[in-house]
Amino acid sequence: MQLSTRHLLGIKELTPDDISLILSTAEQFKEVLQRPVKKVPSLRDVTIVNLFYENSTRTRFSFELAQKRLSADTLNFAASSSSAAKGETLLDTVNNILSMKVDMVVIRHSATGAPHFLAKHIPAAIINAGDGINEHPTQALLDAFSITEKFGSLKGRKVAIIGDILHSRVAQSNIHLLNKMGAEVVVCGPPTLIPKHIQAALNVTVSYDLKETLEWCEVANVLRIQLERQNQVLFSSLREYRLNYGINRQLLDSLSKPITVMHPGPINRGVELDSDVADSHQSIILQQVENGVAVRMAALYLLSNRNNA
Ligand code: CP
Repeated sequence: MQLSTRHLLGIKELTPDDISLILSTAEQFKEVLQRPVKKVPSLRDVTIVNLFYENSTRTRFSFELAQKRLSADTLNFAASSSSAAKGETLLDTVNNILSMKVDMVVIRHSATGAPHFLAKHIPAAIINAGDGINEHPTQALLDAFSITEKFGSLKGRKVAIIGDILHSRVAQSNIHLLNKMGAEVVVCGPPTLIPKHIQAALNVTVSYDLKETLEWCEVANVLRIQLERQNQVLFSSLREYRLNYGINRQLLDSLSKPITVMHPGPINRGVELDSDVADSHQSIILQQVENGVAVRMAALYLLSNRNNA
C-alpha cells in the first residue's frame, strides 16, 4: 500500500487509509526499536534536512533519531545559527540546500503554511514538523498511536483536548485525525482560548467545564498555554487558569473512573498539569515521546517509497 500524498503537510490532507497505513507501519517500526540492533537499511542513500526555524526538543530529536534508525543521511539546520539570520529567504535557503542533492525536507516554522509553500516550489518531499498555529501532523499521529496502543482502537474513543485550543496546532491536527478515525472529541478551556466557530467548523463539542469534561472522557490530552503566541491578555493570570483548568490529583481522584492523561510537551508544571498527575501511572506522556520515533520512521519510510515510485 502507498500513501495518497507525496508530502505530509497536515492531517487535513490525509485520508483515513493514509492514517491507518502510517499507524500500522509504525507498529512494525516500534517492534524494530525493541531489538538489540535498532537500525534498518530502509532509507540508505536518502538524504534528509531538518529545518527548524522554531525551538524544539522532542520533535527535532525524534525526527533525527528516526532518520538515523532508518540509515538516512541527515543535515540539521537551526535558523539562529544559519544565514537566515543574515536575511536569506526560506526559498533561497531550501533551494541552496537542495542543490546539494537532498531528498526530503522536515520543516518547523512559525509561519502558517510555510511547508505548503515549499511543497509548491521545490521538488523534494516535505514533512511539516509544526507550522504556526496550523498543524503538527506527526504529533497527532503519535498521539493516535499512543491511544490505540492503550485502548486497542480509535473508533468511538472519547477524547478531551483541554487548554489553549486557539493557538494550538496540536489541537487542530488531533481534531482532524480523531474525526477522520471515528473518535468523539470535546474541546475544553476558557472561552477566550477556544475559537468561536470551532463546534460547526471542526465537528467538536465545546465545554467550558473541566470537571464535566473529565467525567465524560477516557483520554484527556492536555495542552500548554502558548504565551509566546498571545499578543493580548486572554485570561487574568496563570494562577486563575490553574484554579479553573489545571489538572491535579484531587480532581482526578474525584472522578467516577480513572482516565488516561496525555500532553504533547513541553509541560508547564503547576499550570495546566500538576507533577503528581504528569508523573503518575495515569499519564502516558513519556510513551507518547517513545512512540514518536516509530511514527516518524513510518512517515519518512512511506513518503520515501511514494516519492521513489
Ligand atoms: N510536542 C512538541 O512539538 O515538542 P517540541 O516543541 O519540543 O518539539
